[in-house]
Amino acid sequence: MLIKDACLATMTEDGRYGLIADGAISIRDGRIQWVGARQTVPEYIMDDLADGAEAHDCGGRLITPGLIDCHTHIVYAGNRAAEFEKRLQGVSYQAIAKAGGGIAATVSATRAATKDDLIAQSLPRLRRLMAEGVTTIEIKSGYGLDTENEIKMLGAADALAERAGIRVQKTFLGAHAVPPEYAGRQHDYINLVCQEMLPAAYAARLVDAVDAFVEGIAFSVEQVEQVFDAAKKLGLPIKLHAEQLSHLGGAKMAAGKGALSVDHLEYLPPEEVADLAKAGTVAVLLPGAFYFLKETKLPPVHALRENLVPIAIATDCNPGSSPVTSLLLTMNMACTFFSLTPAESLRAVTLNAAKALGLQDEIGSLEVGKHADLVIWDTNNPADLAYNIGLNPCHRIMVGGKWQA
Ligand code: NIG
Ligand code: FE
Repeated sequence: MLIKDACLATMTEDGRYGLIADGAISIRDGRIQWVGARQTVPEYIMDDLADGAEAHDCGGRLITPGLIDCHTHIVYAGNRAAEFEKRLQGVSYQAIAKAGGGIAATVSATRAATKDDLIAQSLPRLRRLMAEGVTTIEIKSGYGLDTENEIKMLGAADALAERAGIRVQKTFLGAHAVPPEYAGRQHDYINLVCQEMLPAAYAARLVDAVDAFVEGIAFSVEQVEQVFDAAKKLGLPIKLHAEQLSHLGGAKMAAGKGALSVDHLEYLPPEEVADLAKAGTVAVLLPGAFYFLKETKLPPVHALRENLVPIAIATDCNPGSSPVTSLLLTMNMACTFFSLTPAESLRAVTLNAAKALGLQDEIGSLEVGKHADLVIWDTNNPADLAYNIGLNPCHRIMVGGKWQA
C-alpha cells in the first residue's frame, strides 16, 4: 500500500517533528517499507502500484506515528467518584488510602468482578483512547493483589488487545499496595509477590515488564529491590512508580538496576536526574495525576532536559489519581503544567513512550522496518495536537498495516 499526499511528522529528529511536507509511506507485510518525499518514491514501489497495490491519498493531512500510552491502569472495576468528593472536602489521597479506601477500594471491586466484567468495563475507556490515535497501550495489573486476580486482570488486558485491535504491553504490578489480608505483614506479601504471584503470571505468558510503587502508602525501596531481583531472574524489564508524593529514593534505586522507566517524579530532586541519564532510564511524567490530585510540586523538567533524559508522558488512566482517557488532553497538560513544547509532547507519546516500553526498535517513529502504526489527522500542523482542548482531529488510525474502525 502507498499512502501519499501527506505531511509526515516522522519523529526521527531530536526535539523536532522531522517533517516531510509532501510525503509518502509505503507499507508491506504490516511494516513500513519506505518513507520519504513523494518525488523520490523509488521505481520498485511505482511498479507495485502499477501491479495493483493499493494507493491512499491523504489530501495533505498530517500523519504521525501511532500514539503510545505507556502507563495505564485501564483494567479495573467500579469507580471512585465518592472518594473524589471527599478529597474536594479536604481529605487527602494518602488519608483515604490509610483509612482503607483508595487502591484497596478498587481491589475489592476488581476482585468481585469476573474477567468478562473487567473487559466490558474497560473497553469503552480503551476505545476512547483509540479514537484519539492511540495504537499501543501499556496496561498494568495491581488491583488484584493475589495470584488469581492479578492473572485475571492481565488476561483481561490480553483479551482487550484482541477485541479492540490495539497493541498491548502487559505490566505486572503486584507490589502496588498491601492487600487487606496482609495488613501489617508487608514482608510476607513481598515474599508472595516474588515467590508465587510473579512466577505464576510469567508462566501464564502474561508479563512483559514488572512495576512497583515506592511510597509511604505502599512499599519501601528495600522491599521493591527484592521484587526487581525476582524480575531480573526471569529476564523481565523493570519500571517504577517513584517520587510521586514524597522523595524516598526509588527512582535512583530503579535507575541503578537499569529500569526502562521511572514514573511520576514530582518529588525527584534535580541532583538525582544524572542517575537516570547514566542508566538510559526514561522519565515518564503523568500530568493527569498531577492535575487530579491538585499537586503543586513540579517534576524537574529543566534538569531532565539538561541531562538529555528522554521524557515520555502518559494518561496513567486509573480510578483514583487520574480518571483520564484522553492522551491529547494529557499532551496539552504536559505543555501547560510542565512547560513541554508541543514537539516535546508529541515525542513524549511516540518515540520516548516506545523507549519507556523497550519497544523503540519496533514502534514510535515513521521509519523503515518499524510496524506500520500511524494516525492520519485532520490538520497539517502537528502543534494542533497539543494545542486544542476537547477537539479531536483524529481522522483514521492504522495498526500493523491495518486500518482500524
Ligand atoms: O499511578 N501511584 C500509584 N498508582 C496509581 C494510582 C492508583 C489508584 O489510586 O488507584 C497512580 O497514580
Ligand atoms: Fe500509575
